Amino acid sequence: MARSSDTKAQAGFALALPDNPLNGLANEHMHLREVCGHLDALADSDKAQPVLALSARAYIRGVLPNHARDEEEDLFPLLRRRAPDDKDLHCTLDRLSQDHRDIAAARPRVITILERLITDNAAPDAPEAVRLKCFADLERRHLLVENAVILPLARAYLNGRDLKRLRKRMQARRGVDDI
Ligand SMILES: [Fe+2]
Ligand SMILES: [Fe+2]
Repeated sequence: MARSSDTKAQAGFALALPDNPLNGLANEHMHLREVCGHLDALADSDKAQPVLALSARAYIRGVLPNHARDEEEDLFPLLRRRAPDDKDLHCTLDRLSQDHRDIAAARPRVITILERLITDNAAPDAPEAVRLKCFADLERRHLLVENAVILPLARAYLNGRDLKRLRKRMQARRGVDDI
């Protein structure tokens, strides 16, 4: 079910989607790093911080699934097609796909924890704090590789038609078109 905070997060992305969709993915990476910082701040404090919990929940629930699909269903296959002999790249993409599965598996529990922190206006207990930190660590390691390796290679390998297709697919996923 669509929720207003998630819709706002998606609309914010849609309005900001640049002509080059790789810049859109890079912008989302920047926001995801901020979300990781919010998860750390929640985990490290014994005080309730509902604004941070709300912001993290909106992004993890509303933006992250589409972001992973942009990469799994479009960016990674395009890269594999444009660089069929780059074995290192294919290996890296395999590892990143495993990260996506691990992140997707951990995501519902993280959302449930954030829901509780919001509803109870509470700080996380020790097991919840560990879960939040593990999720932030996994996401940060993943972003590091995508920013350092995947996006630069995508800028080198993908042609104008690839980028146009990727942008269209990202817009379709978010239910928007050019204004
Ligand atoms: Fe990404
Ligand atoms: Fe990713």
